[in-house]
Amino acid sequence: LSLTVVNGPNLNLLGTREPGIYGHETLADVERRCAAVATEVGLSVDCFQSNSEGAIVDKLHSVRESTAGIVINAGAYTHTSIAIRDALASVAAPFVEVHISNVHARESFRHHSYLSDAAAAVIVGCGTQGYDFAIRRLATLLG
Ligand code: DQA
Repeated sequence: LSLTVVNGPNLNLLGTREPGIYGHETLADVERRCAAVATEVGLSVDCFQSNSEGAIVDKLHSVRESTAGIVINAGAYTHTSIAIRDALASVAAPFVEVHISNVHARESFRHHSYLSDAAAAVIVGCGTQGYDFAIRRLATLLG
């Protein structure tokens, strides 16, 4: 079974962007670890990043029939995108929402997510380890 790991806008800059908030690991580091954790729990991962809302919607459509579960950090689109919410709802498989930072300890515009109430789980403030937790949680849900 294959999971889909989706990272949204600005997450391509992980490791160099506001390291005090997001840490020093790069997106490549995170994706490597996702693959390693998935292997540990008997799954595989397909990792995708885009800065464009439409490209994220298209990616979700492309895995509608094939993915066993989705890990998504939609970045700032979390707080704005009904389109990404609707695309996730079009996929039968569960998704786990991840935020590297504790969005609830930041600006109030980061406190609302268009995704959270539809998510199987929400992981915030665990740094990039949140992706590991999300993959392990999906593995548990998939039995
Ligand atoms: C983020 C939090 C968002 O508010 C922000 O826009 C991001 C990253 C996080 O991982 O903490 O780009 O999703």
